[in-house]
Amino acid sequence: MSLCRASLPAALALGAVCACGSSDSGPAPRSTLVGIDARPANASCTAKPPPKLLSQTGCVDANDPKKPAPGVIPYAVNVPQWLDNTGSDRGIALPDGAVIAVDAATGRLTPPVGAVLLKTVGATRRVETQVLMREGGGWTTASYRWRPDESDAELVESPSVTTLPGGLEYRFMSGAECLQCHVSGAGTALGWKGPQLNGVFAYPGGKSAGQLETFEHIGILERPVPAAASTPMPGLGAPASAERRARAYLDANCAHCHSAGLDLRFQTPFAQTGTCNVEGRSPVPGVQGETILAPAEPSRSLLSVRLRSSAQLRMPPLGSRVADLDAANVVDAWIKGIASCP
Ligand code: HEC
Ligand code: HEC
Repeated sequence: MSLCRASLPAALALGAVCACGSSDSGPAPRSTLVGIDARPANASCTAKPPPKLLSQTGCVDANDPKKPAPGVIPYAVNVPQWLDNTGSDRGIALPDGAVIAVDAATGRLTPPVGAVLLKTVGATRRVETQVLMREGGGWTTASYRWRPDESDAELVESPSVTTLPGGLEYRFMSGAECLQCHVSGAGTALGWKGPQLNGVFAYPGGKSAGQLETFEHIGILERPVPAAASTPMPGLGAPASAERRARAYLDANCAHCHSAGLDLRFQTPFAQTGTCNVEGRSPVPGVQGETILAPAEPSRSLLSVRLRSSAQLRMPPLGSRVADLDAANVVDAWIKGIASCP
């Protein structure tokens, strides 16, 4: 298994954890190294109504909110959500003693009631900390907007837009918008599945180790995730075929909304994705043929056209503002290599 290729800026909120992507050759060998020696006690970071300041949540150091609380376990995914190239960083906190449920057939991992998941957007400067909490009645969300001096972050009470240094417009969403992607049909905690979490990560403190092995070692999983349900999804820059990288990207960024009819899940056989020579239902001005995927012709394929579009037409329809051209190029390379439909 390859070591981390990503070099993350030192300023990330939860330490240097990076996804490494993976090879093309099926389940990667499991490493025996672990990144964290023991499960941290978590006295403070549990699901509750969100206070006004991030420093009051118990999930960060109250005196230095840039530092996670000791009970927060850093983690990373192989294929992160596209966030306009801002960079992102993740952590999970579990109630003491509680474990993450593992569906051995699908590889889906479900954090327990009381769990808090944190995602901080912004690598060079923190912009937003997004929070998902599992309470007794279901999942709730919160979003904290970082002050420009990063002294603390304030609860977002209504959607707003800010301009980041460099000119990018960044939108703080409503909770209802979060839940358009974080749907229960996709497990709500979207990154919590074997193919996303199975990789080697550089843990704070300098150790590189298998992430699932580390989770098992510290006893936070109900049972091990079987290798068959955790074939790693390769990142865009990983040494894997364009097909596998494109399919992994579409799974990570699109499949929570497109898993029926148009089915962009990684494990769905190509013939059943509802793409190849399938006519699109939403016409796009200027695109001839309107096929979701036209073999060898990215410019006639709505999958590529909608990824590259700006404003109203671009996919995904929310959560980011600019097109991910690296991803579009990988999707195009995949489409160019398809000679005919299965
Ligand atoms: C366009 C779809 C989309 C929207 C909108 C969105 N997210 Fe996410 N989010 C994702 C995806 C995909 C992942 C998993 C991949 C990753 O971690 O980058 C994710 C990951 C997360 C995580 C890490 C835990 C997990 O689910 O894997 C948190 C916490 C989170 N989002 C919170 C939020 C909050 C809060 C909002 C609203 C302010 C929000 N998200 C809006 C797509 C979205
Ligand atoms: C938050 C949910 C959501 C996400 C995430 C999302 N889509 Fe969509 N998508 C929609 C909706 C709703 C429509 C139908 C309305 C429209 O065409 O704009 C749609 C339509 C489409 C269509 C046109 C289908 C047709 O029959 O014409 C394509 C192609 C598409 N999406 C691709 C993608 C890709 C690729 C991604 C990921 C990069 C993505 N979508 C992410 C909600 C989503």
